[in-house]
Amino acid sequence: MMTETIRVPLGERAYDVRVGRGLIARAGAEIAPLLARKRVAVLTDETVAKAQGAVLEAGLAERQIVATTLALPPGEATKNWANLQRTVEWLLSEKIERRDVLVALGGGVIGDLGGFAAAILRRGIRFVQVPTSLLAQVDSSVGGKTGINSPQGKNLVGAFHQPSLVLADIDALDTLPRRDFLAGYGEVVKYGLLGDAGFFDWLETNGPALASGDRDLRAQAVRRSVEMKAEIVARDETEQGDRALLNLGHTFCHALEKATGYSDRLLHGEGVAIGCALAFELSSRLGLCPQEEPSRVRQHLREMGMKVDLSDIPGELPDTETLIGLMGQDKKVIDGRLRFILSRRIGQTFVADDVPADVLRGVLNDALSVR
Ligand SMILES: NC(=O)c1ccc[n+]([C@@H]2O[C@H](COP(=O)([O-])OP(=O)(O)OC[C@H]3O[C@@H](n4cnc5c(N)ncnc54)[C@H](O)[C@@H]3O)[C@@H](O)[C@H]2O)c1
Repeated sequence: MMTETIRVPLGERAYDVRVGRGLIARAGAEIAPLLARKRVAVLTDETVAKAQGAVLEAGLAERQIVATTLALPPGEATKNWANLQRTVEWLLSEKIERRDVLVALGGGVIGDLGGFAAAILRRGIRFVQVPTSLLAQVDSSVGGKTGINSPQGKNLVGAFHQPSLVLADIDALDTLPRRDFLAGYGEVVKYGLLGDAGFFDWLETNGPALASGDRDLRAQAVRRSVEMKAEIVARDETEQGDRALLNLGHTFCHALEKATGYSDRLLHGEGVAIGCALAFELSSRLGLCPQEEPSRVRQHLREMGMKVDLSDIPGELPDTETLIGLMGQDKKVIDGRLRFILSRRIGQTFVADDVPADVLRGVLNDALSVR
């Protein structure tokens, strides 16, 4: 398998995303060209440190690069003010300077927190994303959105800060638990649904083998997802328009994540998959897309062994009005209007902020009643 390089063309902030095998083991050679001196700071979480830390250190040592490492506790709760402060103070105490590089080794939590720390340390240092979860490889490591959660909500504090390089090592996915892999796959499916019907066809054929561990297929899925994300980000870096398409399924997802307290009951990527199914259902009921499309989306998710329906979420959920209220708190609400990404068919989506409330209610009532 060749390493593929996808360029994110953002002028002076342009960078490469490398997708392939053995990239962490070769990290020294990959990162060396960026370094002013042979020293990097590595931010990771304790789980990823155990699974991948030694490979990274050996890879860096091969080029005589010395790493100083901070491993935070794993999980979404880590993405908070306290750990941002801890990370920034640690970088200062390690004498990381303006021309130095931070390496974020982990899933989206470490990528978002590490990227934000890099954005504000000494008014901004460069950072390298080494995404180790599927979600981070196909989504969060590319595009420069960084940040933390506030007690008032998710991702409410942050900055746009593009990485200088992204190393998406397919081998790292070997140690990722299956549930996290499938959650990340929710974002992969999202790309097919939002803009590439041919990719969705390909996923219907290859998804099961890819989930079972086929590395070539995994690399192809990551590559295509990154290409799509890079293309959208290049068109609309700071989400004035088209980048919103990446939020397919997310208005539903965010309400469900809030309703389940951002707990183990529902992982982000699981919520995205359920949200995509609901967005297609909504589109179909609005007469925008054929009735068969939502069924086809659900069928693929089922075949993959993923959560599809609200009844797949363990425990109680609030009623329709409460869920709509939770959607209204989403940070993507503009002037009080709920925004949805709707579809004319698989692979064709658009932004809508004029969804009639009664149709939305109908979709949620029915989705809740099958529980
Ligand atoms: N910045 C963006 O554009 C963007 C986009 C989507 C999501 N996000 C953010 O990403 C986060 C979710 O990312 P995530 O799903 O990667 O969560 P995560 O970082 O918590 O990783 C999931 C779990 O997998 C473990 N893990 C990761 N890689 C592993 C590996 N190779 N081997 C073994 N264990 C491994 C982690 O320790 C963690 O327990 C959320 O905070 C979300 O807001 C950001």
